[in-house]
Amino acid sequence: MNEYDSDVIKDMLIKNGFLYTKSPEDADIIIVNGCVVREKPEKKAVEVLKYFKDRGKFTIAAGCIAQKDKDALKSVSNIVIGPMEYDSLVEVIGKDGVYTDFARYRYRFYKYAEKRKDVSFSEYVTIMTGCDNFCSYCVVPFTRGREQSRSVEAIRREVEYLVSKGAVEITLIGQNVNSYFYNGVDFKDLLEKVATVGPQRIRFTTSHPRDISVAVFDVMRKYDNIMPWLHLPLQTGSTRLLKEMRRGYTKEEYIYITKLARKIIPDLTISTDIMVAYPTETEEDFEETLEVVREVQFDYAYMFIYSPRKPSSAYYRYKEQIPREIAVKRHRRLVDTVQEIVTEKRTEMIGKRYRLLIDGYSKKNPNVSRGKTEGNITVVVNEKIPVGTFIDVIIKEVRGTTPVGIVIR
Ligand code: 5AD
Ligand code: SF4
Repeated sequence: MNEYDSDVIKDMLIKNGFLYTKSPEDADIIIVNGCVVREKPEKKAVEVLKYFKDRGKFTIAAGCIAQKDKDALKSVSNIVIGPMEYDSLVEVIGKDGVYTDFARYRYRFYKYAEKRKDVSFSEYVTIMTGCDNFCSYCVVPFTRGREQSRSVEAIRREVEYLVSKGAVEITLIGQNVNSYFYNGVDFKDLLEKVATVGPQRIRFTTSHPRDISVAVFDVMRKYDNIMPWLHLPLQTGSTRLLKEMRRGYTKEEYIYITKLARKIIPDLTISTDIMVAYPTETEEDFEETLEVVREVQFDYAYMFIYSPRKPSSAYYRYKEQIPREIAVKRHRRLVDTVQEIVTEKRTEMIGKRYRLLIDGYSKKNPNVSRGKTEGNITVVVNEKIPVGTFIDVIIKEVRGTTPVGIVIR
């Protein structure tokens, strides 16, 4: 979401006469579009702002970070501007101020998005913003505001434009895409409409285990250009903690929905987010998380240690945190368990054929290309292939957890 917003901000400013530079030292204005979902990236964003402010730059704290702690940010930034106020950026730039009303609609911002200049082979399209779920640990409802779905026409226009400019992959994004709803059109309808526009690869994220439906799985199966990949945050495998977190599903329901998805969609990969050490988490709760991990066989996972985030309800509710050593130990065990499954899954890929979309090169060796399978698994190929190219490969080995493919010609 922040990447998309940053791209559009860049385009909006260039169209209004500003110049873009990759080197912050050369810039007069520094914009930091920061995430506050977890503690570490937030600290980093504040450090970056302070660094440039101290060196005399005009600094702008943008995005969720602006929404969370505006008073603290004033000392390191000239402008504090939240995600729903980007529309005003061109007018307010150069003046100091705080712009953090989130009950607004980003009409002008989306107009820029619909015609952005730098179109890459793979592009994001925002379909909804905000979240009304108020999961106990989460700041998003406070930083992004209430759920707002974009009109079907605007989304279609943006997808058509991006495809006409050469985008082959479109990822529909929103905090909770499954609750998309606009004038009677729900998420499965929207997905179907986007599929018929015809990008070669369509993805969407993030889904919610409570809001996703079998109808979505049916649409995914029906269209070859909707990729068989589902990012479905689990958070914890303990039904007791899921309730504390206000997630709206049980351990059994999560397992059921993922099994059903795998049954309906051939070769589906499932990725997830998991959190350990939520306050009051017992060893038994944690064991249940490991159980779900083994049962669902995730294709990959992002794993976090809980951090209290103001003003989420959990921040105020619990006096005590799980001791750091226990949290770190649980995180380690979780990572190891996931790693074991992932290694096995990657090894099963050996000898099979996959279609890759090349998206970059190895940092160590620019003659080694990286690409993603339809299931969003990164594969490397020992050849230099232009980004944005589709190629078919056969996996010949797995290095670490990365499959290595040979091009089929
Ligand atoms: N502490 C740790 N992880 C968090 N996430 C969200 N809020 C917190 C928090 N307070 C994780 C969740 C979410 C992902 C984007 O970040 O797993 O799915
Ligand atoms: Fe946060 Fe929950 Fe909304 Fe996801 S669904 S953005 S975790 S409140």
